[in-house]
Amino acid sequence: MSNLKKILKNKNSCKSVWFMRQAGRYLPEFRKIRSNNPNFIELCLNSELSSEITLQPIKRFDLDSAIIFSDILMTPYALGQEVNFIKGQGPKLSDFIIEKFLDNTEKNFSQKLNQVYKAIEKTRKKLPKEKSLIAFVGAPWTLLIYMFNINKEKKKSEINKIIDKKNNIKNILDKLINFLCVHIKNQIEAGADVVQVFDSWAGLIEKNNLKDFCYIPNKKIIDFCKKSHIPSICFPKGIGKNYKEFNKIVKPEGINLDYEIDPLWAKNHLRQVVLQGGLDPRNLLKDEAKLLGEADRYIQIFKEIPYVFNLGHGLLPETDPDTLEKLIKFYRKI
Ligand code: CP3
Repeated sequence: MSNLKKILKNKNSCKSVWFMRQAGRYLPEFRKIRSNNPNFIELCLNSELSSEITLQPIKRFDLDSAIIFSDILMTPYALGQEVNFIKGQGPKLSDFIIEKFLDNTEKNFSQKLNQVYKAIEKTRKKLPKEKSLIAFVGAPWTLLIYMFNINKEKKKSEINKIIDKKNNIKNILDKLINFLCVHIKNQIEAGADVVQVFDSWAGLIEKNNLKDFCYIPNKKIIDFCKKSHIPSICFPKGIGKNYKEFNKIVKPEGINLDYEIDPLWAKNHLRQVVLQGGLDPRNLLKDEAKLLGEADRYIQIFKEIPYVFNLGHGLLPETDPDTLEKLIKFYRKI
């Protein structure tokens, strides 16, 4: 069993380190491949290259887990929306057409993502068995933000109004959840052994809507994972002290802290769950003493409980890989 799976299942406190966005733009070896592959979706669907990119940070840093190189937006892509990444603007999806969305079948959905599963198979073969291969999906709310092209600059209350206005929002959510579970199942069958659910925009939800748009959708996915014996980690970014209620309701095996959560508060209030991450990725852009001082704070606070070393959001493209290497060595030495 992989090191991460063991920690999540047995809640033991052995050391484990990986980073969100560990396969990405801060690595020159990634940028080299990317410069020859301008279409990001096509790159995600190139199983040979996608497996190679997944393994790049493992080769460089010998991390304990690999996360498959893909994207949360592969789900709306497989459900028929066009996905474009415009430089400097972020992702842009073609209009959401309800009839088209409802026409999807599990079979056509899985077929469109076949190369992602091939990439997982290839990667698993090359990865030592003590290393985890992490599958992932976007949480329903975060995917809706992209699927409806909702402008995140808008005020929270306005965002909720837009969501309220969409017809059949509950039906859309449930159908989406169904496809996300299929995507998880396919990734696990291809060789992944843990799943992380990214709710990167949960922080935009008003408190009185958290139950409907964050807790319940995440819970439905985690209930599916439990039934299928798949260990899971949730990342409801930006919900502050509501992490406590999230944990009580959703009950995943692991929970990733974001950089706004006070680690001491988390240690005292988030029980019966393996904690992961928290360190602000911007610390990697500061001088070494500051970075290691901040890292040490997290390591010391969590040293007696099961904790997976990671960040409070993804690695930034400006990160120097040598700085990351120093951080990993520091964590492993303690
Ligand atoms: O190393 C890994 O973490 C594995 C691969 C991975 C990517 N995206 C590759 C990627 C994972 C797990 C994701 C998740 C993802 N994608 C999230 C959730 C986590 C988070 O960061 O909050 C979200 C919201 C997305 C959507 C997305 N994909 C955006 C907003 C962008 C553009 C800008 C950005 O944030 O990087 C992407 C593109 C993307 N996904 C890149 C990579 C390496 C950059 C591609 C490039 O331009 O070269």
